[in-house]
Amino acid sequence: MTNTFSSVLSSLVLAFILFVASSDATNKIVDISEICKTTVTPSFCSALLNSSPGGKDLVSLSQYIIDVDRANVTNTITLLKSLIPKSKDPKLTAHYKDCLDIYGEEGALGDVDDIQRAFKMKDYLGMNIHASALFDRGEDCISGEFPGQPGVHDPSLLPKYAFVVKQVTSIILVLSNDLRGA
Ligand SMILES: *[C@@H]1O[C@H](CO)[C@@H](O)[C@H](O)[C@H]1NC(C)=O
Repeated sequence: MTNTFSSVLSSLVLAFILFVASSDATNKIVDISEICKTTVTPSFCSALLNSSPGGKDLVSLSQYIIDVDRANVTNTITLLKSLIPKSKDPKLTAHYKDCLDIYGEEGALGDVDDIQRAFKMKDYLGMNIHASALFDRGEDCISGEFPGQPGVHDPSLLPKYAFVVKQVTSIILVLSNDLRGA
């Protein structure tokens, strides 16, 4: 009798603990393929989220992806700073300078700061808005084609680097939407 009572009691306690734990959905393990299916490149997204060293919950994955995005924006800036003095073609030099403005502190890097700040404050709408701004940047740096100059292409790694930023940012867009709904 006492045993039955205590086992009923312990299952109630367990049920309560599970209820409390699940009421904060931001700590729930996520379905990575579900998150990735609406991103720019689902296979890239899955590989990146699966390689994340921390927890596979919305909050841990978001912090990881923001850090990756910052690293990729920083790599893009470093690449541009090395391309500008080396470029012999004035049109390409001007293009790289334009892209440096787009990815620099006043542009993409500032967006990453804004995304990080909003995320820390649990302002997931703000996080989404800043990620949208970042997502929309750099189309010309990605295409590497020069408007009005048919046949002129950027031969550097810039289009690849800039596209990585877009792919990573599209993951932040989905994560921030899920955090809002969580
Ligand atoms: C993007 O960042 C990740 C994580 O730091 C790194 O592994 C990857 O090489 C970076 N790619 C580019 C193009 O910067």
